[in-house]
Amino acid sequence: MALVSAKDMLTKAKAGKYAVGQFNINNLEWTKAILLTAEELKSPVILGVSEGAGKYMCGYKTVVGMVNGMLEELNITVPVALHLDHGSYEGAKACIEAGFSSVMFDGSHYPIDENVAKTKELVGICESKGLSIEAEVGSIGGEEDGVIGQGECADPEECKQVADLGVTMLAAGIGNIHGKYPENWAGLSFETLDAIQQKTGDMPLVLHGGTGIPADMIKKAISLGVAKINVNTECQLSFAAATREYIEAGKDQQGKGFDPRKLLAPGTEAIKATVKEKMELFGSVGKA
Ligand code: 13P
Repeated sequence: MALVSAKDMLTKAKAGKYAVGQFNINNLEWTKAILLTAEELKSPVILGVSEGAGKYMCGYKTVVGMVNGMLEELNITVPVALHLDHGSYEGAKACIEAGFSSVMFDGSHYPIDENVAKTKELVGICESKGLSIEAEVGSIGGEEDGVIGQGECADPEECKQVADLGVTMLAAGIGNIHGKYPENWAGLSFETLDAIQQKTGDMPLVLHGGTGIPADMIKKAISLGVAKINVNTECQLSFAAATREYIEAGKDQQGKGFDPRKLLAPGTEAIKATVKEKMELFGSVGKA
């Protein structure tokens, strides 16, 4: 199946009270692991690409070529969206040009009027091409490609202003943080989430920082309107742990170093297990 916009999968998720996982990709192995798991579990999936990961993978056209090739050669039949994660205005335009099926424009660091103006322009472009678009209001804490945000709760009125522009999905800070949560984390603000959803009607809401949020909070967030959950750090952790274990076991050296395919295999399997666990928690299994 060719790449699809995330619109239909999120409308269905919202109606069915589950969430579609966005799993970030960094290379061929991660992409293959996520696609094969989605296919095995018959789950829709969103592949997230940060601007840094896009650069690492030689640019957006390479990413589009790799993903399209895998969809065909791995016989992937479940809906897959290829989505720019935390895109700049220029990055969003470049991904639209390169063949992504979905983009996030993160204008949360601009004053709200500028965020609104830039989001509006990109909504028009995405609409004309049948692509989905995610906007952000209220920055999400933690570190993303070297940028550290403080984390905040978004203003529900500003969320309404941006949702009314016709975005497909909205990321709004509700106390969530990218990466590992600190010991003294106050938890998600369900009061804010509820207020945002009431102001934005049926808008599918996006929960960033899906790593390390306790299962009961994830379930409650879905019940209050979250239809997409982003996961990156947990895949990094499981990939790194499995790779480290393989190297420390000293397998496969025989004087020639490591066979690169064997070296990356345990990490790839670990990502599959992480993605499976998340899809089960989010309730998207069997929903393709
Ligand atoms: P984590 O790295 O905390 O899983 O968050 C991922 C994310 O929100 C990407 O946008």
